[in-house]
Amino acid sequence: MTTLPTHRTDEVVALAHRSHAVIREHQHASGAYPAAPTFSAYQGYAWLRDGGFTAEGMSRYGDVTSADAFHDWVDATLADRREAVDEVVRLRAAGAEVPRALLLPTRFTLDGGDGTDAWWDFQTDGYGTWLWAVVTHATRHALDLARWRPGIEVAADFVTALWDLPCYDWWEEHDEHRHVSTLGAIVGGLEAVAGSGVLDDDRSARCRAVAAEARALTLAEGVVDGHLVKWLGSEAVDGSLPACVVPFGLVPRGSALAAGTLEAVAAELDVEGGVHRFLADVFYGGGQWLLLSCLLGWNLAAAGDREGARRLLDWVAAHATAEGELPEQVDDHLLHPGSRAEWVERWGEVATPLLWSHGMYLVLADELGLLDGVAR
Ligand code: BGC
Repeated sequence: MTTLPTHRTDEVVALAHRSHAVIREHQHASGAYPAAPTFSAYQGYAWLRDGGFTAEGMSRYGDVTSADAFHDWVDATLADRREAVDEVVRLRAAGAEVPRALLLPTRFTLDGGDGTDAWWDFQTDGYGTWLWAVVTHATRHALDLARWRPGIEVAADFVTALWDLPCYDWWEEHDEHRHVSTLGAIVGGLEAVAGSGVLDDDRSARCRAVAAEARALTLAEGVVDGHLVKWLGSEAVDGSLPACVVPFGLVPRGSALAAGTLEAVAAELDVEGGVHRFLADVFYGGGQWLLLSCLLGWNLAAAGDREGARRLLDWVAAHATAEGELPEQVDDHLLHPGSRAEWVERWGEVATPLLWSHGMYLVLADELGLLDGVAR
């Protein structure tokens, strides 16, 4: 087993400043955070999943203006789709099928359009993640959430109408299943917004009721051997599952199920600090994802294991490029090495920088207190 050098705290903090600068440099004038500004398949698009977590990193770093601009962009983008979502709600209430064309996309162009490139729509987790992120940001900085109310209402209505349908997961795969991390984001987003006071009583009550149902369903069908599983009815784990504990709180911190889930993910997917998405992952050969190391580290830090969390942060820092950019994944340890070349051929080298990796780095650095008292 190789031992990675432990990064000096000043180097780790320097990479946090660099992460902030990378995100800032690439944030579009509209406020959107492009997922990976130079990567062919993602270029020109912003995801609510990536962006929600990236905004959380910027909010923690103290760049209120950047996070505000992102939330303004999401708000306007969603408010524009009010009528489509009204129709979705109407059809669902009538028990009718919702045509695909009415479903909101997974990613938007940087000016808030749907874009014309085909993608793995439909996914609901990003809408839950955004609700959680905007409420968390407003609470942290004592901002008036009413500024984003139109978009919040659209996201809440969309999610409460469609939460129980199968859809693509965080990795944009398996739309035949109901994914536990998707349910986690839904519970986290709906509970955050229901408790924020920004919605009227009816909507708040609906958000609470759906969150309770989603939690009950997950606990009934998404737990095997004392840990959460990848989708309802599966036995596998996934590197996104820790999000169901922190930050989304589908499972209470410190509970046996939380501990069992973190242990299962660490045992199966953490290789020397780099966390894989899932064992069957063939994307770019199935490497280790920096943002998942940060997510596990965030959970360990929240559970009091600062040493374990720091080990993960150091692993991430050791994989920054010479320019201080963080990739989506690295190929030190590939689960399916034979599958890497076909992806390089199809889409080019791994997405670098990935803004979500930088955002998660900021979250974990902050969670470890490394940004406390640091001049910005
Ligand atoms: C990942 C998604 C991510 C998107 C943009 C995809 O390869 O599976 O989780 O949202 O890239 O970064």
